[in-house]
Amino acid sequence: MRIITTIAEAQAQPHAKRRVIVPTMGALHKAHGEMVRIAREHAGHDGEVALSIFVNPLQFEPGSDYERYPRPEKTDEEFCRNAGVDFLFRPSVAEMYGDDRSVFVEESSLSSTLEGKSRPGHFRGVCTVVAKLFNILAPDAAVFGEKDFQQLAVIRRMVRDLNFNIDIIAVPTVREEDGLACSSRNQYLNPEERKQAAVLHKALMAAKNIGKKSASDVVALARTIINEAPLARVDYVEVADSETLKPVEIVTANSALLLAVFFGNTRLIDNIRLG
Ligand code: PAJ
Repeated sequence: MRIITTIAEAQAQPHAKRRVIVPTMGALHKAHGEMVRIAREHAGHDGEVALSIFVNPLQFEPGSDYERYPRPEKTDEEFCRNAGVDFLFRPSVAEMYGDDRSVFVEESSLSSTLEGKSRPGHFRGVCTVVAKLFNILAPDAAVFGEKDFQQLAVIRRMVRDLNFNIDIIAVPTVREEDGLACSSRNQYLNPEERKQAAVLHKALMAAKNIGKKSASDVVALARTIINEAPLARVDYVEVADSETLKPVEIVTANSALLLAVFFGNTRLIDNIRLG
C-alpha cells in the first residue's frame, strides 16, 4: 500500500483503469471496511481503491469536536493494509488549505434542513473538501455511506450541478449487534451511554413498522421510544422526502425518518427509509 501525503504526489500517481475512492476522516471501523470492500468490487480486478483520511476542519462548526476527534494513525494504516487499500491519501491541514484560501463549494437547498440547520457551515465544509478530493484523486467512482443520508444527497447534488464525471456509490448503514450505527464518534460514549444508544435503532425500526401515514404520528412514536433512554436528548427527529430532504406531512414510499440525538456530549445521527 502506498501512503501519500502531498497533493503533487497524489496527482502524479499512475492511474489504474478504474479508480474508486473512499473519503473518510479516519478512526476507521467496520463500516469503512465494508466501503472498501464495495469500492473494490466496483474497481474490478484491474482497478484500484484509494482511501483518504483527512479530519476536515472546515466541516466542524466552532466549539465542536475537531480537536478531540480521534486520529489513530498507525491503527488506521494497518486497517487500510488489511482491507486491501491500494493507496492511502493522508494530507495535512496545511497541505489542503492555504491561509489565503477564498473559494468554497456550497450547496444551497438540501443543506438548509436537518444537519445543515443544526450545524451551520457543515455541508459547505463537506462539499469543499469532497470537491477538492475529487480534483486531487480524479476517481471514476466514490463511495459514501447512507448513515450520513443528507451528506450523500448533498454530494449527489454537487456532482450533478458541477458536472463531476464520477459515479457515486451508496453503502447501506453498517450497524453493531444491538443496531447502533457504527460511527467513529461511538467511542466517545461511556458504557451507560453506549448501552442506551441502542434505543435509536429501536425507534427507527418501530417507526418503519408502524405503517402510519401521518408523519407527526411516526415522529411521536420515535420520540416516545427515544425518551425511554434517560440519557438521550433529542436534537431533531423528522420525516423528510428522501430526495429534497424537505419535511413532509404524509409518509410515502419516498420518505425517510432522520434523527440526531445527544447522549451526554456525543451527538449521534441515524436514519431509515420508511417506504
Ligand atoms: P466519516 O465520518 O469518516 O465517514 C466516511 C464515510 O463512511 C462516509 O461516507 C460515511 O457516510 C460512511 N460511514 C460512516 N459510518 C457508516 C456506517 N455505520 N454505515 C455506512 N457508512 C458509514 O463522512 C465523513 O467522514 C466526511 O464528512 C467526509 C465525507 C470524509 C468529508 O470530510
